[in-house]
This record gives sequence, C-alpha cells and structure tokens, in this order.
Amino acid sequence: MSIGIVGLGYVGLPLAVAFAEAGEDVIGVDVDPGKVQGLRSGVSHIEDIPSERVAAVQERMEFTTRAVDLHGAEAILICVPTPLNRNREPDLGPLLGAARTLAGVIARGQLVVLESTTFPGTTRDHLVPLLEESGLVAGEDFALAFSPERVDPGRTDYTLANTPKIVGGLTPSCTERALDVYGRVCGTLVPVSTPEVAEMAKLLENIFRSVNIALVNELAILADRMKIDIWEVVDAASSKPFGFMRFEPGPGMGGHCLPVDPFYLTWKAREYDMVTEFIELAGKVNKQMPYFCLEKIERALNEAGKPVKGSRVLISGVAYKGGVGDLRESPALKIIELLQERGGDVAYHDPHVPELPAHGLRNVELAGAECDLAVIVTAHPGVDHGLLVTQSPAVLDLRGVTRSLDADTVTQL
Ligand SMILES: NC(=O)c1ccc[n+]([C@@H]2O[C@H](COP(=O)([O-])OP(=O)(O)OC[C@H]3O[C@@H](n4cnc5c(N)ncnc54)[C@H](O)[C@@H]3O)[C@@H](O)[C@H]2O)c1
Repeated sequence: MSIGIVGLGYVGLPLAVAFAEAGEDVIGVDVDPGKVQGLRSGVSHIEDIPSERVAAVQERMEFTTRAVDLHGAEAILICVPTPLNRNREPDLGPLLGAARTLAGVIARGQLVVLESTTFPGTTRDHLVPLLEESGLVAGEDFALAFSPERVDPGRTDYTLANTPKIVGGLTPSCTERALDVYGRVCGTLVPVSTPEVAEMAKLLENIFRSVNIALVNELAILADRMKIDIWEVVDAASSKPFGFMRFEPGPGMGGHCLPVDPFYLTWKAREYDMVTEFIELAGKVNKQMPYFCLEKIERALNEAGKPVKGSRVLISGVAYKGGVGDLRESPALKIIELLQERGGDVAYHDPHVPELPAHGLRNVELAGAECDLAVIVTAHPGVDHGLLVTQSPAVLDLRGVTRSLDADTVTQL
C-alpha cells in the first residue's frame, strides 16, 4: 500500500518526501511532465526540499503524470492549486480537474483527502459529487476528509512533523482514517467535526494574518505622516506580554496564500448575503502598499534632487518574502513595474531569483552595484545589508533591517 499525492508543488512535494522518509511508499502525480521528469532523476524544484532529500528516498517514491497509477494507493492526498480567476473569483479548475480524473481511478476502501485551501463546502459540495461518479459512495465505500496544509516555505523551526494538523472527515470514521495516515508524519493532530470546520479554520488563519498586516501597514502610513517611527512603535507595543501579537509593516503581501485565499471566503459569503468587510479592507490596504512605497522612493530621490526618470534604483530582494525564491504576487514586482513605467533605471539583487524575464532584468551582484537609491523590499537572510548601506548614496529600507546601523543615508518605511 502506498500514499498517493496529487500535485507536487510547495505543498505536495514536502508531503511526499515526508511520507517516504517515514518509510511509506509514495506515488506522486503531477500534470506537469517537466516536474515529474525532474523528480524522477532526483532533482527537486522546491527550494525547501533539497535534491539530496529526494534522492535519499528515491527507491520509495514513484513520480508519474498518470493518475491511474493511484488505483492501488491506501490514501490519495490532493494538493493542487486553488487560484483566483481574472475576476478575482475562486478558480476551482485544477481541483475539479483532479477530482474528475480521480473518479475514474479511486477504489473501494481508499481514503481521499483535500489539502488545498478553499472555501467551506468545497469538499462536501464539489468533491463528493465528482468522486461519486466512480459509482462509489463517499463516507461508505471510500473515506473523504479535508486537512489544510500549514507549510510556511523557508521556515525551518516549524515543519510538517511539529506543526499540528487539522483533520475534518465527512464522517467520524473518515476522520479516524485520515488521523491514522497523518499520524505517521505529524506529531500533533487536531480532529474537528466536519470538513467545513477544517476548511474555514485554514481561512481564518490566513485572514487573521492578512488583517493584522493591513492594520500595521495602515498605521505605518499614518506614522509616516506624523513623523513617528513605526518600528519603534511596534517594538514598544510588543513588550506587552499578553493580548498583543507582533506584526510588521512592509511593502504588501505576496505568495500564493494571503493575497488569494481570503477572497475564497468573500466569494462564498455573498451566497449568504454577507459582505466580509475585514477581508476586503485588508486586501485593499495591502494592495495599496506598493504605491505608498513608490511615493517613499520618489521622496527619497527627491531629497537627492532626482526624478524617478533616469535614476538608477537597485531593488534588494524581489521574492515575496525572505529566504525563498517564490515570486507569486510579490509586491517587489509591482514596485519594479511602477518604477519602469516612470522611466526608472531598475536593477535588482536577489540570490534566490536569477532573472526576471518579464521585466528584462537579471540578478546583479550586490558588491559594487551602483545606484542612486537602493530599496530593501525583501530582506533575505545572508544578504549584506550593511554593505548595501555603505556603498549606496541613499537607502530606503521597507523591512526595518537596517535600524541598528543608524546611518543618516537610510530612510525607513
Ligand atoms: N505554498 C504555500 O505556502 C501553501 C501553504 C498552505 C496551503 N497552500 C495551498 O496548497 C495548495 C497547493 O499550493 P502550492 O503552493 O503547492 O501550489 P503549486 O502551484 O506549487 O503546486 C501545485 C501543483 O499541482 C499541479 N497540478 C495542477 N493541476 C493538477 C491536476 N489536475 N492533477 C495533478 N497535478 C496538478 C501543478 O502542476 C503543480 O505542480 C493551494 O490550495 C494553496 O493555497 C499553499
């Protein structure tokens, strides 16, 4: 018996490797033949999973584009993308596509678990009817559950093994089946009564972050006008040992989760005559941040008597967060686009991102990079921000990482 994983991205591949490392046989399925081919030859496309880890458990892992190979698996875990479409509404295309394929594959006695972040009701209302086209009945002939992924790419202190995992089955015995499978790779399991609870819990986690980031971002804009140091404010408030949780201002939100997932709930809420105002407002404030950062860049250049047009602006860090190369929804890209539209001569340094073809840019070495203004948009560990400060005539720090340097050429968010 083996564990099947459908979708071998940021979520699916770490899960596949974790099960293989726990001694399980794993069948990984992806529609992208390039990823499958790479993994077959032991090459990982996910930064958090070094190729050596894939190679070390290669004999227990099989990678394929053929979902039919999952027929004999004990469990099938679905980790496909759940993006928004052009109208910023949920695009269940990849998920429904995977479910349709699985309907022709699943076998009596199997467990199917959805891990992709989505609105409450997806498992019961969308997955069940498609999977039951197999002729099998969910909760009776096969077990079905929702268990949200909580992976935080780039993070090493909390991994799959020590991050509690929520599990909500269609029936109590579905939950039991899923707990048994996840118990092999996760130390703490959190069973809940329904898939809907598990689906909404994941959204609450992401919305909580989005709203709190928006709150501190809005206060950062106000503090800027009031000439108060927002970082010192955050430090001071964080000294409260209870009732406060630290969130830091920044250039906006990126990644596949925070700018996307909350709007799955907004969309669903409309069906219940609800406008989820916190979610919308947080999205609005966070989306405005690159524009505010542009204004800060314009002001910093203005101090040197320069317009954006023709000025050399060095962006330090273009991934959406430190320690990873993920560019999805990265606010740095928006800032670069806004600068290029205004005729700015933009270069970037990011050890995780060799090139940005759509922007006509390649990574430049930090040492000796000449510019009129350097902007720290994403603070990667290992990047020498001290060097950036000493070699640049002016620096705008959007992440608060140069505060200890006390240089008068630096302005902060
Ligand atoms: N990236 C994160 O940090 C994170 C964290 C928690 C939850 N999630 C959620 O997990 C889900 C997956 O996210 P991700 O970041 O791993 O996405 P990803 O784009 O990195 O990976 C998804 C993979 O699924 C494959 N795929 C698409 N359709 C398929 C199909 N029909 N059959 C088989 N494979 C298919 C794609 O080729 C891709 O390799 C999303 O719902 C996301 O919101 C992501």
